[in-house]
Amino acid sequence: MGLVVLSDTEQAKMRRAGAAAAATLAFVGARVAAGITTAQIDSWVREHTKATGGTPSQLGYQGFPHAVCTSRNEVVCHGMPSPRVVLRDGDILNVDVTTQLDGYHGDTSATFVIGQASAEARHVTEVAAKCRDAGIAVVRDGARLGDVGAAIDEAARAEGCSIVKDFGGHGIGRRMHMDPHVAHWGTRGRGGRLRAGMAITIEPMVNLGRAEIRMLDDGWTIVTADGSLSAQWEHTLIVTKDGAEITTLRS
Ligand code: MF3
Ligand code: CO
Ligand code: CO
Repeated sequence: MGLVVLSDTEQAKMRRAGAAAAATLAFVGARVAAGITTAQIDSWVREHTKATGGTPSQLGYQGFPHAVCTSRNEVVCHGMPSPRVVLRDGDILNVDVTTQLDGYHGDTSATFVIGQASAEARHVTEVAAKCRDAGIAVVRDGARLGDVGAAIDEAARAEGCSIVKDFGGHGIGRRMHMDPHVAHWGTRGRGGRLRAGMAITIEPMVNLGRAEIRMLDDGWTIVTADGSLSAQWEHTLIVTKDGAEITTLRS
């Protein structure tokens, strides 16, 4: 696998792409509410991405027909925006935005709690954010992918939740998905080493129940096998000498 270390110029472009994706996600976050459809979110993402000067990386990716993934409740990831999915009070919804700007990509997602949600819905949402942060905390030049995965998986287990093993983070740069695969579980001291200047995502999918998933007949939507709630948060990072620079922080 070809691991890419980005030049300073490329890192600057990653910062701009990351800021654009974060701005679009924030735009959606400020508007998402009960009564909105996920198709409405898709239009907002198309409109706002254009305003940033970027293009939605996910549109047409391996045939994906939408600009954004919208994954509600038991949907783990790759939820397809639809005029038939109307958000209701108590739902949790992950919105995953990826923007290409000047040839580089920023990839970020957040799980939004709609109105008054159950304690369980809030719990899985908070645990997923903690897992993302536990992974980011381990990232630095020389850290191993197993160190990152183990930290994320332990953070989920400590809260009685489970990590989805079938999908992970990824290298990112001139393409949305690049090497390495960044598993959200693993063994400390194993796996490839991160190097300063590499760009990756960390995007744990955390289930309230069991880790198993299945795909719906549409060929995209991934749901929990047991129907339990699932939440996810994602950032794009550039590895640094002693940590990570998050390119997709909201300004
Ligand atoms: N943004 C997703 C990720 O975090 C990619 C989804 S691919 C799509 O890697 F085709 F479903 F959009
Ligand atoms: Co990603
Ligand atoms: Co994403």
